[in-house]
Amino acid sequence: MIRRIRTVLALPWAYQVFFNVIGAPQRSRILVRDYIRAKPGDRILDIGCGPGTILPFLPESEYLGFDASPEYIGLAQRRFPSANFMCERVSQYTLPHREYFDIVLALGIVHHLGDSEALQLFQIAHSALKQGGKLVTLDGVWTNEQSRPARYLLARDRGQFVRSQEQYLNLASQVFATVNASIRHDLLRIPYTHIILECIREQGSSPKVNESPEASRSPDQ
Ligand SMILES: C[S@@+](CC[C@H](N)C(=O)[O-])C[C@H]1O[C@@H](n2cnc3c(N)ncnc32)[C@H](O)[C@@H]1O
Repeated sequence: MIRRIRTVLALPWAYQVFFNVIGAPQRSRILVRDYIRAKPGDRILDIGCGPGTILPFLPESEYLGFDASPEYIGLAQRRFPSANFMCERVSQYTLPHREYFDIVLALGIVHHLGDSEALQLFQIAHSALKQGGKLVTLDGVWTNEQSRPARYLLARDRGQFVRSQEQYLNLASQVFATVNASIRHDLLRIPYTHIILECIREQGSSPKVNESPEASRSPDQ
């Protein structure tokens, strides 16, 4: 049954319906208000943007989203013709502009990536951000205090790399010097535990590990 739901969720319209039923619009409002805190005119890069899920909740901004799914990107382009979308995997992505974005988002994607591609995501985000800019990630997380139903649903998530707080922090802090983590059990109508990371690109900071070739190209390449 759960496997069939996961297959159906690959369809963009089904993802949108599921998104609304589980209360994800409220999740998006909380994320934007309390963690993303974008200002009008901000430049935003959305990694693993899906069908542009977060866009209706953001203030007017210069937005670029990319995702590995052509179906999700197709729907996003039809829904939001004035925003920019690309179909690309994290591991293949070539950053168009370094130190250009005020905010990078990676909502619901890190737990889909193995450690090597997840590390690439953090490196892309670090290269993309202006100094003082912020990466916000949101993922399912294992904790000691979560309910059994939450553990049950997490174990059946489409993402095969749900991690503990320590494991997420270990990845992010290989690239970002400043990482704040928040655990939330209340973002959805279903039992589910999220971790939100706010990773700051400090003034004058370079990544703590080497940037990927994709991320280190100059804007004109
Ligand atoms: C749970 S969805 C989240 C979508 C959207 N950010 C949201 O909050 O609703 C995870 C997204 O990550 C994308 N994804 C998974 N692996 C990816 C990869 N290696 N590169 C780029 N996108 C990927 C999937 O296609 C999917 O749209």
